[in-house]
Amino acid sequence: MNMTPARGLIAPKLRTLPIFADLDEEAIETLAGMVTYRQVPKGAFIVTQHERGGCMFLLVSGRVKVSLASPDGKELALSYLEAPAHFGEMSLVDSEPRSADVIAVTDVEALVLEAKDLSAAIQLQPRLALSLIATLSRRLRHTISRLEDMAFHDATHRVMRVLLNVATAAYESRGVPVIAGLTHYEIATLAGTSRETASRIISSLVREGVLATKGRRIVVDLFRLRERLEAE
Ligand code: CMP
Repeated sequence: MNMTPARGLIAPKLRTLPIFADLDEEAIETLAGMVTYRQVPKGAFIVTQHERGGCMFLLVSGRVKVSLASPDGKELALSYLEAPAHFGEMSLVDSEPRSADVIAVTDVEALVLEAKDLSAAIQLQPRLALSLIATLSRRLRHTISRLEDMAFHDATHRVMRVLLNVATAAYESRGVPVIAGLTHYEIATLAGTSRETASRIISSLVREGVLATKGRRIVVDLFRLRERLEAE
């Protein structure tokens, strides 16, 4: 992990985060003095499950995977986060060890806020506290829905749910229901199944016309996929 002291870089990076976009120059400068800038290469662990966590990360560019690994090498991906986002806040607020691994999927830039500075940062931007709570609440809802799927539904349903969630998020942010940058293995780890099973289900949905593949991208017919899920 490369730590660069580039202070002049930090204020503009902070401004790319919507939560700080409305802060005045003085507040941004104060905040810039509290955080450190880190570049993490693709594939590196940023946070490791069970380790002590004394800081949180503001993701300013790139993409990370939040995942759990079993002792026999299986992986369950909890989520993929794309900048602007934050992670590592759980250990910061409850002082428990890190709940999951966080791994850079691309080269990543992050700003690191130490636990001792969280209160001061919230004083500068009180909306930060609400944003942390909102994120925790969203992640808990997502985890409840994953638990429900694991308990009550089979792998076909879970793979379809992952495809629907990712394609809906792409449609909402970019206007196209296209899954790009996720391999079949990654879809499988999000659905809690094997790569072979995920690939088989994807091929069968392609044959049914619910999905179409274009190179490494999957184009999703959101309406038909939702119908298929509801019919399960
Ligand atoms: P922390 O426990 O400090 O370190 C691992 C981080 O992964 C955690 O804080 C959260 O920021 C993030 N994380 C844990 N569980 C999830 C989840 N289900 N979805 C998204 N992010 C998560």
